[in-house]
Amino acid sequence: MTCIRIIEVLPTPANLFHSAAEEFVRIGRAAIAQRGRFTVALSGGSTPRSLYSLLAKDYANFSWSQTFIFFGDERHVPPDHPDSNYRMVNEALLSKAPIPVENVYRVKAEVSDAATAASDYEDKLRGFFKLGPGQFPHFDLILLGLGPDGHTASLFPDSEGLKEKSRLVIANWVEKFKTHRITFTFPVLNHATDVMFLASGSDKTGMVREILEATHTPPFPAQQIQPESRLVWMLDQAAAAKLKH
Ligand code: 6PG
Repeated sequence: MTCIRIIEVLPTPANLFHSAAEEFVRIGRAAIAQRGRFTVALSGGSTPRSLYSLLAKDYANFSWSQTFIFFGDERHVPPDHPDSNYRMVNEALLSKAPIPVENVYRVKAEVSDAATAASDYEDKLRGFFKLGPGQFPHFDLILLGLGPDGHTASLFPDSEGLKEKSRLVIANWVEKFKTHRITFTFPVLNHATDVMFLASGSDKTGMVREILEATHTPPFPAQQIQPESRLVWMLDQAAAAKLKH
């Protein structure tokens, strides 16, 4: 299956999050119609919070009981820590929308050993998707963000995690933050049916152009995302300001 790349540029951040919410729900409804369930991995950071809030506010009647929520990456902190991606998602979406708690698969990032948190989460994925050896999960949708250095999920430039070919989830050491991050690997990200990048604001302008219109050797981590079906870049005008095409 060849991956189709779609770039959508919306005038404002508000338009961006509205369109992203519609796309999320459209993909979810299609997955539930075809497979009876919607499997989605959420991204962290600050950008998607507005999307999650909008989903809770405008889509309360979405089929949340058939939606299964995972996290593409997590900081090595407890779930109530200000840096926790789970905390952000819980505040914006999980605590507000009728999502069954048993449908939410969070990373147990409170455990002291990040490698244990990663292998525990890998076991959860293998169990949920009933994977055999060498098999990878096919998420219906994975949400991703873009770091100013070209990282995505917690796959940072020059980090060991970029080389991982068989694990699903790893504890990736991030030198600049002097910490581990628990993150999906490229094989998991690239076995998704659809991947949706969200980027907003002028601090992403330069890197958005590098990722979408320049060739780099080695490629930035965000340039190594090639899902099975569709790669959708949802951008606001500020983030897309330097795109030529
Ligand atoms: C994380 C994310 C990370 C994020 C980018 C962009 O845990 O931080 O998963 O990949 O998407 O760093 O972050 P912002 O949205 O805050 O700019």
